[in-house]
Amino acid sequence: MVQLNDGSSLPAMGLGLYKVDPGQVEQVVATGLEIGYRHIDGAQFYGNEAALGSALHRAPALSEDLVVTSKFWGDPEMSAERVRADFEATMGDLGLERLGIYMIHWPRPSQQRFVEVWQAIIELQAAGRVRTIGVANFNADELTELIEQTGVVPAINQVECHPWLQQRELRAFHEQHQILTEAWSPLGRGRLLSDPVVLQVAAQLGATPAQVVLAWHLAHGISVVPKSTRPERLAENFAAQQVQLDEEQLAALDGLDRGTHTGTDPKDRR
Ligand code: A2P
Repeated sequence: MVQLNDGSSLPAMGLGLYKVDPGQVEQVVATGLEIGYRHIDGAQFYGNEAALGSALHRAPALSEDLVVTSKFWGDPEMSAERVRADFEATMGDLGLERLGIYMIHWPRPSQQRFVEVWQAIIELQAAGRVRTIGVANFNADELTELIEQTGVVPAINQVECHPWLQQRELRAFHEQHQILTEAWSPLGRGRLLSDPVVLQVAAQLGATPAQVVLAWHLAHGISVVPKSTRPERLAENFAAQQVQLDEEQLAALDGLDRGTHTGTDPKDRR
């Protein structure tokens, strides 16, 4: 569990649903819940929220301690009105009264409206519709603007983060403001799994490369939302929580930072 700046907590290991086909979501979520995942990372843009809703309603006994994330996409329009409409659409698809986490998916700075969008999300939280509010893909300047304009610090910033893209400056900013760093594509879309240092540490520990990479995040207090559609990998990733890196192994992985994006660099999505 990681503590959030709004007083709530979040299981550090989440289940990512980006690029999971709607036809596979029910099986993936059912398997994930059985394994023990209690944090599911979705978004309206992923196009599978109705399937997620069906999966959740097959497991109603679990709903109390389950944290579900959704995100406001903001294309074609970043506006308060659009937030309210999209949020209701998401809640209808999920079949939930109250959401665990709602985020701004991208800041889209060229539209200059992320403060207005954030204000609308603050209001949803004040109305009791969402427990925790956060953002994704924001840089430190954009976070500063949100905080200065509204006085409300996001609880989470979800960004691409893994040993090849460690986001050190942004993580330091997050720490100053008690913002949780959450990693999307924590496995670098699978590319990290053939890194020689990762393979070496995995061999030392008798763990898998994916477990080593996820253990690196967890050792740094970074929450993760790896995606897999395969039951054995869902279990393998979840079990990374039991993998302990020693100081030397952590230092070796810390040495891999090279600024490599494996997904969209926020600089390219203005
Ligand atoms: P698959 O869904 O076929 O398992 P990321 O979360 O960093 O974006 O990485 C997701 C990619 O990594 C997907 O292609 C997924 O494929 C693959 N993947 C997820 N977990 C594992 C694992 N434990 N071992 C190998 N590949 C994995």
